Amino acid sequence: MSDNKFQYEDEIDFKAVLRTPIRWFGIIYPYFLVIAIAIGMIWVFKMDILFNNKIPPALVDSTRIFKDIEQKKGFTLAGVDVIKLYSEREQLKSKGEEIYKANCSSCHGDKGLGDGVAGANLNPKPRNFTQSTGWKNGRKFSDMYKTLVEGIPGGAMVSYDYLPIEDKFSLIFHIQTLATDFPQVTETELKDLDVAYNLSQTRTMPNQIPVQTAIMKLSSEKISEKDKINKIQEFIDIHSNPAKDIFQSVTYNQEKALLTLFSNQNWRAEKENFVKLISSSVNQNGFNSKALMLNEERLNLLYNYMIYLFSL
Ligand code: HEC
Repeated sequence: MSDNKFQYEDEIDFKAVLRTPIRWFGIIYPYFLVIAIAIGMIWVFKMDILFNNKIPPALVDSTRIFKDIEQKKGFTLAGVDVIKLYSEREQLKSKGEEIYKANCSSCHGDKGLGDGVAGANLNPKPRNFTQSTGWKNGRKFSDMYKTLVEGIPGGAMVSYDYLPIEDKFSLIFHIQTLATDFPQVTETELKDLDVAYNLSQTRTMPNQIPVQTAIMKLSSEKISEKDKINKIQEFIDIHSNPAKDIFQSVTYNQEKALLTLFSNQNWRAEKENFVKLISSSVNQNGFNSKALMLNEERLNLLYNYMIYLFSL
């Protein structure tokens, strides 16, 4: 039969395959290709999971941490005799060590090597007091005092100015025990320090509140001011009153006039203050010069009307 010659084998002839092993490749090749593509696709689609970094990088850019001012009550810092205080350094070292352990060693380490636990992730790193290089303000007594007063901007070293002068001195006395090569302190250096920071003068530290709180306070005051004035303005518009005409005739800008009254409310206690407030900057404060020419009766009407409006 001549067409038998072209008949395809409908089954794999395993014997033939075994005889010529190269034919295996032809058989497994399609499967191999499919599996390879499948693995490749899984790889590509799951890449974000496979390579996801579960542990966040250790170094945090501490210059981006915003540290707000703490809320603190004001207080007085007594002035000191710098030379006398310096002469007491032997006694003050141990006090300095205590303050150091409580406030500084978390970052700078117990021995001042800059290896405190809280400092591990900081950038820049806490200063190693035993190393003489890399200091920004410097290693002199007065330099360290400056650091304590002002802090180092742009990092974790904040100001410790709230500490009494004696405590700041004690801290530096302690730090100076951590290495032997700190620069010698001179009398002129101490005197200059006294002048620079007014150390012999008693100082009053004002109350301070965080910037965020201050902003909130200011904006909420602004809102309540606007609300109040809108409310009064609305009332004036809607309700008739004999004094309403007087108010309209003595103002060139009602809202501004109300703002003036809102900003300094001691006029509510006395009519005299009311007259003073209006006349102090007439033609700029919302009131016009007619306000200065009111007779007693009309002035009384206006005054009582305003008292009434502001108590709404
Ligand atoms: C929150 C961590 C932290 C604490 C707490 C801290 N420091 Fe620092 N301190 C730093 C860092 C960070 C620097 C390095 C700043 C830089 O290089 O900008 C530094 C630098 C300094 C320097 C060197 C300044 C210079 O001239 O380069 C002195 C001195 C210092 N600190 C003293 C103190 C003392 C004293 C205390 C405790 C009252 C203290 N620090 C508490 C983090 C801290």
